[in-house]
Amino acid sequence: MTDRFRIKFGPFASPRAGILVVFCDDGLRLGAATRAALGPAAALVARAAAADRFKGKLAATLDIAAPADLKADRLVVVGLGKPKDLKPSDALTLGGAAIGKVPAAAKEITMLAEYPAGAMDADAVADLALGARLRAYAFDRYKTKRKEDEERPDAVALTIGTADPAAARRAFATRAALADGVVLARDLVNEPPNVLFPDAFARRSTALRRLGVAVEVFDARKLRQLGMGALLAVGQGSVHESRAVVMRWNGGRKGDKPLAFLGKGVCFDTGGISIKPAQSMEDMKGDMAGAACVTGLMQALAARKAKVNAVGLIGLVENMPDGKAQRPGDIITTLSKQTVEVINTDAEGRLVLADLLHYTAQRFKPKLMIDLATLTGAIIVALGQEVAGMFANDDKLAEQLTKAGIATGERVWRMPLGPEYDKLIDSKFADMKNTGGRHGGAITAAQFLQRFVGKTPWAHLDIAGTAMGSPQSEINRSWASGFGVRLLDRFVEDFYER
Ligand code: BES
Ligand code: MN
Ligand code: ZN
Repeated sequence: MTDRFRIKFGPFASPRAGILVVFCDDGLRLGAATRAALGPAAALVARAAAADRFKGKLAATLDIAAPADLKADRLVVVGLGKPKDLKPSDALTLGGAAIGKVPAAAKEITMLAEYPAGAMDADAVADLALGARLRAYAFDRYKTKRKEDEERPDAVALTIGTADPAAARRAFATRAALADGVVLARDLVNEPPNVLFPDAFARRSTALRRLGVAVEVFDARKLRQLGMGALLAVGQGSVHESRAVVMRWNGGRKGDKPLAFLGKGVCFDTGGISIKPAQSMEDMKGDMAGAACVTGLMQALAARKAKVNAVGLIGLVENMPDGKAQRPGDIITTLSKQTVEVINTDAEGRLVLADLLHYTAQRFKPKLMIDLATLTGAIIVALGQEVAGMFANDDKLAEQLTKAGIATGERVWRMPLGPEYDKLIDSKFADMKNTGGRHGGAITAAQFLQRFVGKTPWAHLDIAGTAMGSPQSEINRSWASGFGVRLLDRFVEDFYER
């Protein structure tokens, strides 16, 4: 969706109209510049807080309409909690919480980015803005009518008052690129499956060429030539041809091995012949969230000119029941030449990724590979919807991802791999089978993927719980969260940019 927010940074000042947002701690203390901007209206905060039982807890809000002594139409006070307990990812949450209190009809918002003890640093100010933008996202492309309370102006001016507007502007430039990446990922996941079928997704990814990303689209003929028998088997029952897309961003040193990001892009997963029950099947339009994340990430890296070489690969298919669809019992030959007995056609994501992983390792000899996939319902049973499952063959990589997860609030939790699990996916007839039974379903899926990785450091993120229909947060009110874009952008920035 096009962005309605126009974000500017300026000095601390009291606005002449619109909504004024300020921050206070759990003692209702305000910063000095905030007190100056409020003037006599500062006294309203304590009175309204008492009346509303507002205690200044983190992300709690106090809403004061038509404040006397202020030109602004409304004063929103956002709590910071105990300043010493603030985490790096909290500024984002605060920006989101503030926008959550602003009525949809608002055209003009001013935020004073100040802690009681003094100015917020440029990164925190920029995070406030990013949180605001992500919170304001709504996917309403297909609504032809709006309820009265959903009426929204086409443009909203958000001015953030800060001690150093120039530094905040610089810090926000990279966040704006990141926001565009998250928004792209959310849009792709929210799109309906009749609109976003494999070729439509592939065509959208070619828009990244404008940012200097080299984009190759493989059609079904090319995929057959390459020998991607597993990926093709998944898509063979669909009237929509399968695709794979390779996106390359070379912002690093010439000759430096790239980081590789891979995404499961099942544009719709009916389960195939092993068909899913009707209940919530519509959610399987989001089974391409891994691919959406990779595309959003590549967009963000290119837009902020990240000093890194990165490749993004996505496998785009539709899993349908049909006369031409694969059957349980079929034995397919993957690109790696390993054979797979298909026990359940609903365990399709690992087939798509098997070929992508092998292809990526062979062609790019990458520094590392990270795949993202809405791979199993089992990971939702294990971890719920707040944290993604992480599997890795490399401790350093696992640690870096864990750190990036804590820094961004997009958390991952490491799960085990190990040869003990191999016997669950051994097959009577082929090299392996594509399901390992009910026990440890997320683990056997990851163990299956590992057979196509080789020696490259690799991590698999199972985002089935976090990418869609996940708990609404202060920075996301949409069905699709865009999970993974901020995580991996941070991972790249903190550990791999020169
Ligand atoms: N796309 C699903 C996993 C999924 C389930 C994602 C719910 C998001 C929400 C995947 O292709 C699938 O169907 N997995 C099966 C594997 C089983 C057949 C071994 C599952 O998890 O039940
Ligand atoms: Mn499936
Ligand atoms: Zn699936």
